[in-house]
Amino acid sequence: MLALDKVSYSYPQAEEPTLNNFSFSLKEKRVGIIGPNGCGKTTLLHIMVGLLTPDKGQLLFHGEPVSTKLEMYNLRREVGFLFQNSDDQLFSPTVIEDVAFGPLNLGFTPEDAKAIAMKTLENLGLHGFEERITHRLSGGEKKLVALATILAMRPKILLLDEPTNNLDPKTTSRLIEILQNLDLYQIIISHDWDFLSHTTSVLYKIDHGHIHRCDEDHIHVHRHIHKAGDHPHNHDLG
Ligand SMILES: Nc1ncnc2c1ncn2[C@@H]1O[C@H](COP(=O)(O)OP(=O)(O)O)[C@@H](O)[C@H]1O
Ligand SMILES: [Mg+2]
Repeated sequence: MLALDKVSYSYPQAEEPTLNNFSFSLKEKRVGIIGPNGCGKTTLLHIMVGLLTPDKGQLLFHGEPVSTKLEMYNLRREVGFLFQNSDDQLFSPTVIEDVAFGPLNLGFTPEDAKAIAMKTLENLGLHGFEERITHRLSGGEKKLVALATILAMRPKILLLDEPTNNLDPKTTSRLIEILQNLDLYQIIISHDWDFLSHTTSVLYKIDHGHIHRCDEDHIHVHRHIHKAGDHPHNHDLG
């Protein structure tokens, strides 16, 4: 559906390419991509939605290279991108205006766009948020509203950049539940193993400009500390 073929990308003045002869193809429904800070995760997603253009190689959508404006428009109709920072996504005074903006842009009448927006908010448990002032929402609320603005456009593929950054545990749990119930392709970028293990079925790792699949489960030891007591105890490894 969505693929990169031998893509290289360097930022101006960078010594090393961020992505180097990088190939990836979206085949599974729920893909997690993990990697340390600065390894190129955001760069990868920006290339996938055309915010950055590869120096070498190609972006492919449904097996065809994406190069013209029309091809990019068609890609963006089907691929929704949740920015790491919700303030990059939300720009209208009220929640309903933000969520209805996409459907309006797709040519729906104002009434239909509003109805789609209301339904989307309801599906995300945001009923009653319509008239809230967007910039006054909490970080967690903004994240869910930003997701609503994308889902209102009915994408087939959802790309999420570090969706749990700065989220409180309750909103993170809600987001996990929402993503698990969404029947569309998802690529989730995160450094949060626990979150990815709940939301994705395959995991890739970015390392030195390349990507590889991490297939095996590993049991690993956590060092942790409890506030009080030295009583032996078990941890649920499920
Ligand atoms: N606009 C930019 N100009 C120059 N270098 C950048 C820019 N954006 C990111 N970089 C650099 O490119 C590398 C990859 O960045 P990024 O894709 O944001 O990584 P990640 O999302 O994995 O943390 C980092 O070394 C970062 O400093
Ligand atoms: Mg990033």
